[in-house]
Amino acid sequence: MKKLVSLLCLLLAALGTQARHDTQALRQWQDNKCSMFIHFGLYSRLGGVWKGKPVTQGYSEQIMAFAPIPKGEYETLAGTFDPTQFNADSIAALARRAGMRSVILTSKHHDGFCLFRTSTTGYNLYDASPCRRDLVKEMSEACHRAGLNFGLYFSLIDWHFPYASPMSPHNADFITPKHHEYTKAQLKELLTDYGPISELWFDMGSNTPEQSRELYELVHRLQPDCMVSGRLGNDRYDFCVMGDNQYPDATLQTPWQTCVSMFNETWGYRSWQERGDAEEKAKEKIRNLINTVSHGGNFLLNIGPDGEGNVIPFEKEVMENVGNWLERYGYAVYGSSPSPFRTDFGWGAATRNGRNLYLFLSGKYPESGKIAFDMPGYILKKGDGKMATYLQYGERIELTVPASAYKDRMVHVLTLEFDKEIAPLPGKSGKSLILTSQNAVPLHSYSCFDYYTNYKSTTGYSWNFEQILLKQLDLIYTQQETGRTIDLTVDDKTYTLTLDGGKQQETAPLSGTEWGDLYLCGPEGGSFSSPARLKKWEKTTERNGTIVCKPFESYYLMQEIESPRAQRIMVEIGAGNGVEVYVNGESVIKHLNPYRCTFRKEVAVLPLKKGNNRIVVRLYNRFENRMEYLFRPAENPVIFRKEVTLPEMLNGKSHTVTIRPHNPDSPHADAELSNLRIRLRRIAM
Ligand code: GLC
Repeated sequence: MKKLVSLLCLLLAALGTQARHDTQALRQWQDNKCSMFIHFGLYSRLGGVWKGKPVTQGYSEQIMAFAPIPKGEYETLAGTFDPTQFNADSIAALARRAGMRSVILTSKHHDGFCLFRTSTTGYNLYDASPCRRDLVKEMSEACHRAGLNFGLYFSLIDWHFPYASPMSPHNADFITPKHHEYTKAQLKELLTDYGPISELWFDMGSNTPEQSRELYELVHRLQPDCMVSGRLGNDRYDFCVMGDNQYPDATLQTPWQTCVSMFNETWGYRSWQERGDAEEKAKEKIRNLINTVSHGGNFLLNIGPDGEGNVIPFEKEVMENVGNWLERYGYAVYGSSPSPFRTDFGWGAATRNGRNLYLFLSGKYPESGKIAFDMPGYILKKGDGKMATYLQYGERIELTVPASAYKDRMVHVLTLEFDKEIAPLPGKSGKSLILTSQNAVPLHSYSCFDYYTNYKSTTGYSWNFEQILLKQLDLIYTQQETGRTIDLTVDDKTYTLTLDGGKQQETAPLSGTEWGDLYLCGPEGGSFSSPARLKKWEKTTERNGTIVCKPFESYYLMQEIESPRAQRIMVEIGAGNGVEVYVNGESVIKHLNPYRCTFRKEVAVLPLKKGNNRIVVRLYNRFENRMEYLFRPAENPVIFRKEVTLPEMLNGKSHTVTIRPHNPDSPHADAELSNLRIRLRRIAM
């Protein structure tokens, strides 16, 4: 036993082993919170109109694909593109007034036209247009003068480059080797000739893991502090990027950003856009911003200047209104941490910074006129008094707020100061002695191959529970987890452990279960995150079968199991590019398989209830033309148990245990630890 204790002590690891992502630059990037996005290019000249008609399909920056416009014809536009009104200094000044901390400019969009002078192609604003300008240079210098960070959008697809994949409606095409080399040459220029680039906002395309890794490393080699966006794919990025105008439903554990357009329909200039009221639009964007920062994210708000380079007055006004609000309440935004609460509220949202809790009155006025929540372990020192009255009863904090605080949809912020620095509040304490992926608080990131194949990944699990004395835990797992190294954090200490053969224990996991027939349904289209529609089930006699399919299709398996009692059973599941497993409607497993994997078998421990259970397995295909599947009882249902004795007895009422993979290759990838259970040993007194 002594040996084990000293081994554990030796393996005491500091929290946060992913040093690569934990740089000061990353922290700084997160603290900045707000950036201005600029979509500007050849398409801006057309303003969403082709041959006198508005092009209503697709985004206006993609008018070449949606009009559609023959390549030769589109490219001649360059010869008359002269954005005389594009004034980088005045755009930088607007960004400052809007409270933005950086500007991200489209150096090259999908049409392949470069706003920078490049030796890689003549198809750029300097060489192909009468103005002979390099807007990347102008904007980078203007940002520098204005004290703003400067970042670049860069499209991974390119409709001009002759050796690239042909244009397609989904924009998630493969990158040919020649195209990859072309991208690298352009990135080298962009990262060498334009001063510090705060972020590289890659977009679309479908890289192989090697291509993503190579570009990620290239960026960091040339500019170590440059942050790489999630759309580089294959989990090789510094921050996750949500889908366009999308928000996660909970705080993520990794840095993330959402890109927001003035209107969902377009990013590039659209002359016929009905714009409405700028003040109302600003209120909408302020709410988007609050939704983002209260969940720990960064906000990237877009403008699309017209073909002359003028900022659209409506967009300018929205930006300025956002800036006015930030000028007043920016203290609750910049440098803040996400809401300490685990749930969202109808009355608004929260952020925190040190001892301060900031409440944004951005939701609905509460009928009772009261806002209430629990802050266990904290003492309220001060409310800011201007707009509300404050009371604390034990853990409960209660504010009485007048309706005027919500008047005209103007968002006010209240500051509450507590006796100590505010940390994320623990989830509800469990009473169970067995910690499972079902009773855990999951830790989330976004994992992806590409734009359509992304999902909210579970990068670890955390539990809060009450136990007076804690000294020993048992880790219980299957053959599949053996050999894996995990970080086990108990309260504030982390132990790095390898799940070895441990004490082996046979189980009889299927005892008494009755299996019905296996059913198949599909195909369904959509991304890996699309909800299932599950229309027509057909019986299949094959438990291990093959499906002829197309990219972006999902098939579903359905299995009903009658169980005489609540129990965990072990099954074998096989799928291709990605898999999701639901037990009685709850998603219990969801992950991508290694890139271009046509079949991967895994063991899954599924929690059944007494009576009838319905298991649904989603088989996701991104790349292939056929996939194999499998669903059956595990052939060798063995479980392993590893005893962990803590170096010292932990006293205290409540504890937190967290498990994560040790040093994962990417902090965004799914932990694939849903089979792992932890049993808490009671100490006999
Ligand atoms: C999508 C579109 C692209 C746009 C981008 C902004 O990826 O393809 O046109 O620039 O979203 O987020």
